[in-house]
Order: sequence, then C-alpha cells, then structure tokens
Amino acid sequence: MANMLQEQFKHRSNEEERVTMSVTENVVDAEQYLIKDEPYYEPVGKELALYESAYDVRMPMMIKGPTGCGKSRFVEHMAWKLGKPLITVACNEDMTASDLVGRFLLDKDGTKWQDGPLTTAARMGAICYLDEIVEARQDTTVVIHPLTDHRRSLPLDKKGELIQAHPDFQLVISYNPGYQSLMKDLKQSTKQRFGAMDFDYPEEKIEINIVAKESGVDPVIAEKLVHIAHRARNLKGHGLDEGISTRLLVYAGQLIAKGVPPLDACSMTMVTPLTDDPDMRDTLNAAVETFFG
Ligand SMILES: Nc1ncnc2c1ncn2[C@@H]1O[C@H](COP(=O)(O)OP(=O)(O)OP(=O)(O)O)[C@@H](O)[C@H]1O
Ligand SMILES: [Mg+2]
Repeated sequence: MANMLQEQFKHRSNEEERVTMSVTENVVDAEQYLIKDEPYYEPVGKELALYESAYDVRMPMMIKGPTGCGKSRFVEHMAWKLGKPLITVACNEDMTASDLVGRFLLDKDGTKWQDGPLTTAARMGAICYLDEIVEARQDTTVVIHPLTDHRRSLPLDKKGELIQAHPDFQLVISYNPGYQSLMKDLKQSTKQRFGAMDFDYPEEKIEINIVAKESGVDPVIAEKLVHIAHRARNLKGHGLDEGISTRLLVYAGQLIAKGVPPLDACSMTMVTPLTDDPDMRDTLNAAVETFFG
C-alpha cells in the first residue's frame, strides 16, 4: 500500500507527468515526510521545551532570526523529536495562494484537483514550515489566517471545500527581522496569530561546538573561525548588511577539514559571499589573517 502511494506521489511531484497521469486525489504518503534520523541540533537556551509546549497546544509559531543561525535545523529537529511529518515550503514573491493551497489541473480525463503543500499538511497532520513567508505577497499570506486561529480550517475556494485541519497539524513560519522593508513586513493581523521565538548566532562555546561537529574540523580551528565571525558581526550596519553566519563557518570548516589552506577557505566562504565592497573585503581579510596568517 505504502509503495503504491509513493508511486502515486512520484507522479504528483513531477510537473510534466502531473498533468497527464491519473492521480488519486489527495492521497499522499505521510511516511516520506517523516524525518528518520535525528537532525543534529545544539540547544542554545530553552527553545526545545518552549517549542514542545507550543506544539502541545498547536500554537502557530514564528521563528525569527538572521540567515544561517539554525532556524530550519531547529524545526527539522523538533519535527523529528515529535515524530511528525514536516512539509517545508520556500516562499517567494511570485508565489500565489494556489501554490500553497492547490489548483485544478488538466489531464486526459478532464480536470483534477491537486492539493498544495499547505493543504496536504493540514489534511495529514504535518508540521508545515513556511520558510521566508515575508517574501510572499500579502494576498498569499492571508490564506493562512483561518488556519492560525481558533477555526483551524482552510477554505479551498476554487474547489468549494472547507478543510478542518488534522489535530496534529501545526504551522511554523520563519522570519528574518533584518531584511524587511516597510512594504514587505507582515501585517499585524498575521503576526499576532503566532507565538514567536528569537534566534541568533549561538554564544561562543556553543558555536565552536557546532562548527567542529558539523564540519569535522579541529575545535582549535573552529574557535578561530568563530572569533573571526565575532569581529565581522560587529561590522553589521557599518558596511555589512549581515554578519558571517554559522552556516558559513561550517562551510569554512568543511573546506579546511578537506585540506584547503585556511586563508583560501575563509576568503571563499567568509569574505567573498558577504560583500563586493573592496574596503570591506580588506577589513574582513585582515581579520582572517589575524587568526590564520
Ligand atoms: N543550534 C545548531 N545546532 C546545529 N547546527 C546548527 C545550529 N545552528 C546553526 N547550525 C548550522 O548552521 C547551518 C545553517 O542553519 P539553518 O539552515 O538552520 O539556518 P536558517 O536559520 O534556517 O537560515 P536561513 O534563514 O538562511 O534559512 C546548519 O546547516 C547547521 O550546520
Ligand atoms: Mg532556513
């Protein structure tokens, strides 16, 4: 049975085949969204317990924080810990409500309804993670409103169906506070449907641990990388839009662990991606040389 469902989903996920294959409506195998192996996540505070309590009452959650600080990893870890399927959607400004909710597709037998990822998650009882929700247009964002208040419902207007969310369903969104212009911020009526948690780059000891474990680099090198990052993070707002993320430190560590000379590895992962400004690059390279020169 599971195989059959998987087979069906393979067809559903293939854009070309989707329109020609006959697809059983709304049957998606939850198994494929379950995370089997524990995603490594290093706690930085009370976030594990707080999130579990929020999930207990199915509170929609907003995870705030700069790029590469562990938001997605945290959500993956929590989905694994709670044993719930996780459906992640990367939002962008071209996304329409139909991309989330679903649409009618043409096939050889006529039209068939295809659930979008949000609908699939609501039916299945998954945790639905909308990554960078702010990127989506406001008319897209409002489709989550009835799902994120006492109604926990999702109207499929085009289909004329009102879905009641599965008791296990939870909506989680990520939000990058630094990047929003006034035009692009979420509406208060959206924000105030969520509990929220602030994430940031972890404190020194924890970050060293993360970089060493994730990249396989020696902790002494990981410590140097973290110290360089601290210097760069002080430049945020003084020529840099954003500091060096934990993700980039892991990248640097991975290269160094593979034998790339540290100066090259750091320049490739911690300087060049961040800025094109020559002065700023000099400043960052000087910080790198202080530790690896
Ligand atoms: N607390 C942590 N425990 C384990 N790994 C972490 C942690 N924080 C960051 N990382 C590492 O940093 C990388 C980036 O984290 P992640 O992808 O979760 O960032 P993000 O906050 O979702 O960024 P973005 O906003 O760009 O999507 C992870 O792949 C992981 O290697
Ligand atoms: Mg992410």
